[in-house]
Amino acid sequence: MIIETEKFKNEIENRRTFAIISHPDAGKTTLTERLLLIGGAIRLAGSIKGRKTKTYAASDWMEMERQRGISVTSSVLQFTYQGYRINLLDTPGHQDFSEDTYRTLTAADCALMMIDMAKGVEAQTIKLFEVCRLQGIPIFTFINKLDRQGKEPLDLLDELEKVLGIGSHPMNWPAGAAPGPYGIYHRHSRQLELHRTDQEPEIIPAGSEEAEHPQIKNALGEYSYNKLWDEIKLLETAGDNFDQDKVDQGLLTPLFFGSAISGFGVTSFFTEFLRQGPMPAPRESSAGFIDPASKNFSSFIFKIQANMNPAHRDRIAFLRVCSGVFNRDMMVNHVRTGKNIRLSQPQQFLAQNRNITEQAYPGDIIGLYDPGLFKVGDTLTEGDSFQFKRLPRFSPEHFVRVSSKAAMKHKQFHKGLKQLAEEGAVQVFMTPGSENIILGAVGELQFEVFKYRLKAEYNVEVQMERLPYSMLRWIKGMTVKELPDILNSKTVKDQEENLYLLFKSEFWHKMALEKIAEENLRPVEEMP
Ligand code: G4P
Repeated sequence: MIIETEKFKNEIENRRTFAIISHPDAGKTTLTERLLLIGGAIRLAGSIKGRKTKTYAASDWMEMERQRGISVTSSVLQFTYQGYRINLLDTPGHQDFSEDTYRTLTAADCALMMIDMAKGVEAQTIKLFEVCRLQGIPIFTFINKLDRQGKEPLDLLDELEKVLGIGSHPMNWPAGAAPGPYGIYHRHSRQLELHRTDQEPEIIPAGSEEAEHPQIKNALGEYSYNKLWDEIKLLETAGDNFDQDKVDQGLLTPLFFGSAISGFGVTSFFTEFLRQGPMPAPRESSAGFIDPASKNFSSFIFKIQANMNPAHRDRIAFLRVCSGVFNRDMMVNHVRTGKNIRLSQPQQFLAQNRNITEQAYPGDIIGLYDPGLFKVGDTLTEGDSFQFKRLPRFSPEHFVRVSSKAAMKHKQFHKGLKQLAEEGAVQVFMTPGSENIILGAVGELQFEVFKYRLKAEYNVEVQMERLPYSMLRWIKGMTVKELPDILNSKTVKDQEENLYLLFKSEFWHKMALEKIAEENLRPVEEMP
């Protein structure tokens, strides 16, 4: 049943849930802070001055992030701006965390891709873009650092097309260039937003491009003035037209230029982004597509994080509301276990600040205390039981043998191992018949995070030994005893007693296929 009330419809229409993806240093933290600042959610931007005095971004909460200056964990930030209720999902920029990024993106309705104007499309932009593509969500682009000399804007469009294979529709266009006078021309409102040092930008109506605009010419100089109109004409005749269907399918990206650090162009970008950005859409489940306006509450868990705040020593499951209304203390079906559970103490987040939330609507992200019940991918429903589309497994490519340095810390070691594995950052395997523990990860940095967190959160020092394997295959329908001897491989099992083979390379995997039928040796992505 669909709820038709005006209030409920408005709540859904005004929800915007998105993630920012970028190569490290493109300015994601700076833009996040700028958005929080214009949304009135924080008062101090992480300006250069702020950083030098070690005032960290509101979205940084792990000690490790501070030390390394990279974002290793995704945070969820919620705030209200211009009547929109915004859920901003921060994703780790480091390539070793693309699995985490993927999970986070399953909870987002669109992605904002940030690009450094001087650097263009970088290695990590490509990887994260591919993750977005898999997700099939709309992608918006913000080209940052307009206040510095950068690449030619037309070359950047070309790069997006050639490297990422996505068309772009610039919503605004740089006029002039730093360090000289510069601004952005808003193509649809035909206004020039002129940058002014230490002052609010000046908005100059530009009217028809054919007309002479002495004020703009004076401000930019004749060369930049002529270049602007030449480029605008080129975009009108040869550029990609705006096409909503293509934007919805992630084939065309609306593109904006601006400067996160000075805030120039950010407000106009954000206003347009919120206007164009998608509201929560129906989601695929085992019972068909679930309309957000359905009467019954439904949601899924996309992330679990233990010890987010060392002072609390707790575990939080992050849940995305997909339909209906969430009410504090409501009873829901925990579909995987068939249990009926009460959702008490739900929280919403502004980085380290948490607030108990009474109600939440489709698109919202809430955190639940997790007594060890939840797993990433779990569905929670009210009324009928169904399962949202399963999150895919990622095959680890790096492996280490791990043990506690002090035998006395055995219990703590296993507790930490279990909890961190449930978060999904590392996968835990054992060699059948022995106590050896092997960790698998998609990116090597995850081992370092694991080591660091075991020490910081469980007070356990571990030793790790690299293993020479880079490939994992699931053994389907065979027992350990039935396995033939296979050269240069290792048999391991997980906590659910699934069996796997580790290989040193594709070559040894191929050799194994001479002894085991292909139907018995499968990619882990196929596991149920
Ligand atoms: P990230 O989260 O994507 O990794 O990037 P972050 O915001 O930390 O920004 C990376 C660097 O780029 C920072 O400088 C930041 O000040 C700078 N930056 C961000 N936006 C802009 C912009 O619009 N224009 C210019 N010119 N610079 C920008 P840093 O020197 O590496 O660090 P810090 O000393 O400022 O902390």
